[in-house]
Amino acid sequence: MAEVRVRVPAKVNLALNVGATGQDGYHALGTVFQAVSLFDELTARPLSTGEIRLSFRGEGAAGLPTDGTNLVTRAARLLAKTCGAEGAGADIRIHKRIPIAGGMAGGSADAAATLVACNQLWETGLSLQQLHGLAAQLGADVPFLLHGGTALGAGRGEKLTPVAVGGTFRWVLALSHHGLSTPAVFREFDRISSPQPTGIGPDLLAALADGDVPRLGKLLSNDLQQAAISLQPELAEVLRMGRDAGAAGAIVSGSGPTIAFLAGEAGTSDAIAERLLLSSRVRAVRRVCGPVPGAQVVG
Ligand code: C5P
Repeated sequence: MAEVRVRVPAKVNLALNVGATGQDGYHALGTVFQAVSLFDELTARPLSTGEIRLSFRGEGAAGLPTDGTNLVTRAARLLAKTCGAEGAGADIRIHKRIPIAGGMAGGSADAAATLVACNQLWETGLSLQQLHGLAAQLGADVPFLLHGGTALGAGRGEKLTPVAVGGTFRWVLALSHHGLSTPAVFREFDRISSPQPTGIGPDLLAALADGDVPRLGKLLSNDLQQAAISLQPELAEVLRMGRDAGAAGAIVSGSGPTIAFLAGEAGTSDAIAERLLLSSRVRAVRRVCGPVPGAQVVG
């Protein structure tokens, strides 16, 4: 195969309940993921040298490691090892649009895209279920980015159950000037909060099924939000600005610092975007919708 192109979305968490820390150092989670239309695009070509070569362009590309520590390289190596294809090489090029260290699982998305791309490039023939098993070894968010849509996540976030959604939701994303480290945000949560029940309430699932924007907006919740604000206090001001501009709901995405504003009408998302762009606290604004599918071959 000469080349495989894969498109992979970012995620937002509509609810993120953080429980106790397990023996593996991970917190138990109850979450609702939604994949949104902000995509990284990955191109993989075969390399006869057996090397995994990695390069990035686009959003935040300059700061990313391209050596064996990158989750992309680890994903490719794990697939090759699992399938007894240790000699398989790939030249992987990624066009980034998902913010780095933004709470939108950009690194996990690229790892999910790598599993899908290399599985096709190397003709290793693993099923989606088998790729899910590898994804869960790579990180808590990687399995969801394989599947996309809207899903309940339990365990570390890797135990997924699809959620029925009545319609498409409009989101306005406020990107921050500085990233936040996920482990640092969990540490701050441990410092300022205590473990919470992880069960997801039926009201949120009903609002999603009904496509009820005002109700969904009121039910968005994130136990990591206070920890993210504690590390980046200006996020509180950004949340307020979007709400004042008419958002039905506002939430820090995952461990932050990206903030997702839920908008009912196209006019409302315009008003939110215009307001946010006036603020020096916001680096960039993206208008997206969800749910969208997970990592998919596009050519
Ligand atoms: O799985 P991932 O590599 O994305 O997680 C990054 C870090 O975030 C973990 O090393 C851990 O410190 C923290 N984390 C956690 N509980 C989770 C998910 C992540 O404490 N469920």
